[in-house]
Amino acid sequence: MATALSSLEVPERIAVGDKEYSTHLLLPSEDIQSRVDEMGAELGEHYLSRGGVHVVTVLSGALHFASDLRRAMQRHTPGLPITSGQVSLSSYTGTQSSGIIRNRHKSQPLGIQGRDVLFVEDILDTGGTLSWLLRFANSEEPSSVEVAVAVNKDNPDRRADLLGETVVHSGFKIENEFVIGYGLDLDERYRDVESIYALRPEE
Ligand code: IMP
Ligand code: MG
Repeated sequence: MATALSSLEVPERIAVGDKEYSTHLLLPSEDIQSRVDEMGAELGEHYLSRGGVHVVTVLSGALHFASDLRRAMQRHTPGLPITSGQVSLSSYTGTQSSGIIRNRHKSQPLGIQGRDVLFVEDILDTGGTLSWLLRFANSEEPSSVEVAVAVNKDNPDRRADLLGETVVHSGFKIENEFVIGYGLDLDERYRDVESIYALRPEE
């Protein structure tokens, strides 16, 4: 019988290289689900007035958030035409951002010309990923671009003007610490944990 990630969902301690971290429950899955439902209601109304929305999931981290958010929008606004696409990016190794964004689809177009686009991301940290993506997207002349992130991290390194005038809808604001769960990974692990946990360095 598997006992691993049962009620605790994640181990109490996780080693990353030669560092030890303890895990702390930050956002229980019930809180995440009710906030995502609320965001779905707001965004559904918002895009109904525009006649539809094209949701672009930023993979892999936004996998769960985007599918929950799309279904919440559709539940609250059944008449809303929703189309979906995805883009696959990555910049992290371990708990550190490499600063280098890799577009796994190379420069394959997003196909968003003339569309009202909502990019769905797991987390806004330095903002590097989204600013790169917004530049890439704007070259295709969409009608509008907004962003939804499950978690907005208070990273002091983020330049205030990095995302320009872009509207960012945030699920939760958190402190500047590394988190896992609800799509967020540590070297591709723990994405399917339903709550969000913070990793804090052990003394
Ligand atoms: P940014 O480009 O620095 O804003 O980082 C965005 C990307 O880094 C996200 O899409 C995540 O994949 C990853 N990331 C940032 N912070 C965390 C974290 O705390 N846990 C897991 N992944 C993170
Ligand atoms: Mg990601």
